[in-house]
Amino acid sequence: MSSLTGRDILSIADLSTTELVDVLDLAADLKQGKIRPNCNKTLGLLFYKASTRTRVSFSVAMYELGGNVIDLNPSRTQVGRGEPLKDTARVLNRYLDILAIRTFDQDDLQTFADCSEIPIINALTDLEHPCQMLADLQTMQETFGKLEGLTMTYVGDGNNVAHSILLGGALVGMNVHVATPKDYEPSPAVVAQAKEIAGDRSNILITHDPKEAAENAHALYTDVWASMGQEDLANSRIPIFQPYQLNSELMAVADKEAIALHCLPAHRGEEITEEVMEGSQSKIWDQAENRMHAQKALMASLLGVV
Ligand code: CP
Ligand code: NVA
Repeated sequence: MSSLTGRDILSIADLSTTELVDVLDLAADLKQGKIRPNCNKTLGLLFYKASTRTRVSFSVAMYELGGNVIDLNPSRTQVGRGEPLKDTARVLNRYLDILAIRTFDQDDLQTFADCSEIPIINALTDLEHPCQMLADLQTMQETFGKLEGLTMTYVGDGNNVAHSILLGGALVGMNVHVATPKDYEPSPAVVAQAKEIAGDRSNILITHDPKEAAENAHALYTDVWASMGQEDLANSRIPIFQPYQLNSELMAVADKEAIALHCLPAHRGEEITEEVMEGSQSKIWDQAENRMHAQKALMASLLGVV
């Protein structure tokens, strides 16, 4: 039985380095069809924000594990009409085997975890996007055959994706460089946690200089300049973030084998150019596919079906 059985994954740092590497190994075996676990479990999806990749990749992953999926759209469930989270959590706990939640506040996710015995998975909060990071690491592993010692550079907003890159990268011994405009840095608490995890093994660099961050990097990664819930700030942020665009000029500063990553959805011409997205160094579509394999491995481990 996996050491992850029954656990909650609210942060990528809820996994130890060994557990994270085991999930990535399992994801690779599942992708190659070497293992075909079969469960009869039910996954609930409780998403307060829009989603294409996360919703579909979790659903297909659970179907391929031989289980079922229930989409608990908050606008059609009582929680959307004000039923307390702790009551909803205790009831869903009696029906479901595992629950993936996409919401705003990490504390709401924590409430679900505190009131449930089934595994709760963070499917994105304002603080973190751990399942994205699993797929990102799988894509790096496939490309370079290793993770330790590589440099992952993120340019743009110090948001949920940046936080999971900092923590996940540190866990596997990667150098993580993050370049943001002033006042858009990642959370100091997350940076401190990443530095503590990295220790002497790898370097965590937070800078305002995208070229400094990109130098000799093995992956250049970006995300939207205004996340879900920040739509009204999008236009005012464009001039602030323009120097942090992932474009050919920045790719040229990175290692010549470097890959371009983006969690999607992307705004071409804003945080990333069409040329980089569609260029030969882009691994963005493999990265999106790997959401499915990585989450399948995570769910199989949490459910103890591998
Ligand atoms: N990358 C990601 O989480 O995409 P969705 O918002 O479409 O799920
Ligand atoms: N930072 C983005 C990621 C979307 C997958 C958001 O939270 O909207």
